Amino acid sequence: MGIRAPREGEQIATMDLDEAIRGRRSARAHTSQPVDEETIRRLIDAAVHAPSATNAQPWAFTVVRDQDLLGRVSDAAKAHLLAAMPAGPRSDRYRSELADPDFHIFYHVPVLIVISETADGPWVVADCALAAENLTLAAHAVGLGTCWIGFAQGYLNMPDGKDALGLPPEWVPVAPIIVGHPTAVPPPVARREPEIRWVG
Ligand SMILES: Cc1cc2nc3c(=O)[nH]c(=O)nc-3n(C[C@H](O)[C@H](O)[C@H](O)COP(=O)(O)O)c2cc1C
Repeated sequence: MGIRAPREGEQIATMDLDEAIRGRRSARAHTSQPVDEETIRRLIDAAVHAPSATNAQPWAFTVVRDQDLLGRVSDAAKAHLLAAMPAGPRSDRYRSELADPDFHIFYHVPVLIVISETADGPWVVADCALAAENLTLAAHAVGLGTCWIGFAQGYLNMPDGKDALGLPPEWVPVAPIIVGHPTAVPPPVARREPEIRWVG
């Protein structure tokens, strides 16, 4: 079982599948320790082993490690969300958090990996989401924490957001995933009983 990130040149650890699926948590507190390039490449390699419709593999990965840039994107994404968010009890929950100048949507994490669609089609969002799940499970297996940051998505899909990360205009960012060395194991998050209908 992997409980820490591999050192340079070390084989990536493996983990029991059930343990990986049940043990992965969205991690929002990380140390400032960088994630090395070899490990990032291995996580992306796990991501591209996801299935994709017609094997189109319609994804690209943008790795952002520049902390100043992440801070600027966080500020711009918060402003974008606050301006775009309709009033109402659902959004009021987030409004004060987004208005807090100390709130960093990427939680000061060392790395952001943005998975973007690179093609059109009815299944490209699903394809990118499957790649994202592979990436998060692979990260968990080596003791890294991840969290999908939906708060970033609206801004990253604006021309300014794409410019900020140097994304080609035709790419569509789907999954902004932060990756870091978690400071603690996040507590379990309860799941509801699934509704299951058996047909036949
Ligand atoms: C599409 C998507 C968007 C999310 N956006 C955010 C976000 O912007 N900020 C955040 O802290 N967590 C975000 N999360 C994490 C969820 O809050 C988290 O997955 C959920 O609470 C269940 O917890 P778990 O991932 O630990 O199982 C997002 C998750 C998904 C799948």
